[in-house]
Amino acid sequence: MIGRLNHVAIAVPDLEAASAQYSETLGAKVGAPQPEPDHGVTVVFIELPNTKIELLHPLGEDSPINGFLEKNPSGGIHHICYEVDDILAARDRLQAAGARVLGSGEPKIGAHGKPVLFLHPKDFTGTLVELEQA
Ligand code: CO
Repeated sequence: MIGRLNHVAIAVPDLEAASAQYSETLGAKVGAPQPEPDHGVTVVFIELPNTKIELLHPLGEDSPINGFLEKNPSGGIHHICYEVDDILAARDRLQAAGARVLGSGEPKIGAHGKPVLFLHPKDFTGTLVELEQA
C-alpha cells in the first residue's frame, strides 16, 4: 500500500545552523525557510535526488514539536512520510488493523498542499509516520 518515501523530517533547535550544515558541509540543495503557521513550524526543504529532508523548527508557543525538542535538545528524526495513492482508503485499512490515527482522523492539508495523516508512533515501531496522498 505505501509507496515512495516522500520525506524524512528532522526537528532542529537552530534552523540557520542546520540549513548551513546541509548546504555547505553536506553539499545539498537547501531551500529558504517557509513559515507554516497552521502547523506551528518553520520548514526548510532539502532536495535529494531520491527524496526530501525537511528541517522543522518550532513556530509559536504551541508548536507540536516543542516537546520533542525538550526531550531531544540537539534535534532528531521527528517523522517519516510515505506516499499513498488514496489516503482515505489507507486510513480505513489501518484503522481496521487497529492502528491509531492522530487528531480527528480526517486528513489535513500538509506542507506540500496535499492531504496528510499521522499515525501513532507506538503502533509503528516507535516512529511517527505521516501518510501523504501522492
Ligand atoms: Co512531514
